[in-house]
Amino acid sequence: MLTAVPPPVTVRVPGKINLHLAVGALRSDGFHELVTVFHAVSLFDEVTVATSDAPGVEVHGEGIVEVPEDETNLAWRAVAMLAAHVGRPAEVRVTLRKGIPVAGGMAGGSADAAGALLGLSTLWKLDLTRDELSRMAAQLGSDVTFALHGGTALGTGRGERVVPVLSRHSQHWVIALHRQGLSTPAVYRELDRLRLAAAGPDGPSPPERPVEPVLEALAGGDPRQLALSLGNDLQAAAVSLAPDLRRTLRAGVSAGALAGIVSGSGPSCAFLCANADAAVEVAAELAGAGVCRTVRVARGPVPGARVIDAPDPP
Ligand code: C5P
Repeated sequence: MLTAVPPPVTVRVPGKINLHLAVGALRSDGFHELVTVFHAVSLFDEVTVATSDAPGVEVHGEGIVEVPEDETNLAWRAVAMLAAHVGRPAEVRVTLRKGIPVAGGMAGGSADAAGALLGLSTLWKLDLTRDELSRMAAQLGSDVTFALHGGTALGTGRGERVVPVLSRHSQHWVIALHRQGLSTPAVYRELDRLRLAAAGPDGPSPPERPVEPVLEALAGGDPRQLALSLGNDLQAAAVSLAPDLRRTLRAGVSAGALAGIVSGSGPSCAFLCANADAAVEVAAELAGAGVCRTVRVARGPVPGARVIDAPDPP
């Protein structure tokens, strides 16, 4: 008897910026203890999972030369983990359509892993709870859990423990994409190096970056107040490795943004704008300033990984 092949499942999943990123001590497992505020923005990847006798990953979109199409791809590792969890062979093909900048500090790889987890569990009708998915997500990477949940959330641990944060009103952003990507581990290493150079091995621990002001600003919803409370401990390290980011950050503020910040480990920069019209104006001026590869307008928060009816054409 022939069994019907289920139709492919497509999941849309957002990129993120960190409105607040306080990096604590380096742990014995090689990760840093974090307190962060994740904010999902409207740059999306689409992840399609289909039954296939040619299993594997294919990638479409901008910047894809840097994305592996083998078993090291985080989306494939998500598929392999879920297949092993339920004891089924991973006879599926994963197609990634990239709208999130690659190696940009916006967790695009983590988004793909979250999309693959949700896509495969839907294709196979696994009926997993969000908690079960979150547990697998946390094993795959520090940002994968947030990509499942989306919205605005407080992240602790190495970033994998997330709780939603009250966030009134949409915020409007311009994202400036850099010419070259930065490696996340390299940026964390550079931060450790800078801290050691500043304080010495027995020197004082890094200054605390309190999270309360950003939480209060989000609850109030005023972008001007939020602009004053954005902060990222990784920014100095990203700028140290890619010094021209300084010029990009200055240009966004000169173009009328309320504030600019390196997104996560960079090198994408996120500029907070007063409203949607201001974001379009800032994007146009920044695009003409020659300080970045390209710009995108985005809003946040947006929901996390969601199954959609049909993908956009590639
Ligand atoms: O978890 P993920 O694979 O995204 O992390 C990539 C790298 O970033 C880690 O291998 C580690 O070098 C660095 N990292 C860290 N502390 C964190 C998260 C990431 O040092 N909390």
